[in-house]
Amino acid sequence: MVLRGAAPPGDNGAMRIVILTGAGISAESGVSTFRDAGGLWEGHDVAVVATPQGYAADPDLVQRFYDDRRRSLADVEPNAAHLALARLEGELGDDVLVITQNVDDLHERAGSHRVLHMHGELRKALCELCETRSPWQGDLADRPPCPDCGTAALRPDVVWFGEMPYYLEKIIEVLEGCEVFVSIGTSGEVYPAAGFVAQARAVGAHTVELNLDASDTASMFDDVRGGPATELVPAWVEEMLAAESRE
Ligand code: OAD
Repeated sequence: MVLRGAAPPGDNGAMRIVILTGAGISAESGVSTFRDAGGLWEGHDVAVVATPQGYAADPDLVQRFYDDRRRSLADVEPNAAHLALARLEGELGDDVLVITQNVDDLHERAGSHRVLHMHGELRKALCELCETRSPWQGDLADRPPCPDCGTAALRPDVVWFGEMPYYLEKIIEVLEGCEVFVSIGTSGEVYPAAGFVAQARAVGAHTVELNLDASDTASMFDDVRGGPATELVPAWVEEMLAAESRE
């Protein structure tokens, strides 16, 4: 297994509440989802902009695609759902971990610290030569040098189809210790993330889906709630904190 990058947060054992987020949590901030009408994949060929082969064939096009997405992060803000999850972590600390498929930084900007970006981050660049992941705010299409080794070999630090997601060993470990597993704003179409609910169920976790529409894996959850994340997530966080204060 290829696990690039620095040690993830949450190395101190099992997490009680594991939260998986997808594009739907950022939709109300103005970030496009992938598969909804008007979503990111509608106007783009996934094989061209989200595979190593597409990048090899036309690196300039792919760099410009991610440069545009990185720039657009300056125009969006965390919403009530991101803020509610940050509040949950603020109250419960090490008992909470967010695993996100999103490459935006809205969880962090909302105040969450315990976040694993399993599909990478737009605001990082990955050096293809030395494999260093560097914080990155600007464009990559003009081939800047790697801050670490100086080689002009930087690509977006985004996991493409056919590549290994980050932190899988850590994720499996926390799923094995989780008591509550919540999936927010994800269609359940992309593995391995779509399989996490099964792993959480296998250890007896209570499983909750919060999504605009029922996902492909909705039947796997104990509790399925439909609606916008900015309404469902703050309400669910209130419930969790009220339950915690009664314990
Ligand atoms: P999708 O676009 O597949 O799914 C977004 C989900 O969010 C859908 O189920 C929507 O119903 C739901 N949704 C939309 N608006 C919402 C809202 N306001 N509140 C709550 N839910 C809402 O996005 P992901 O599941 O995140 O991977 O996609 C998974 C992966 O597929 C992405 O990380 C990306 C993509 O290919 C890579 O690029 C490797």
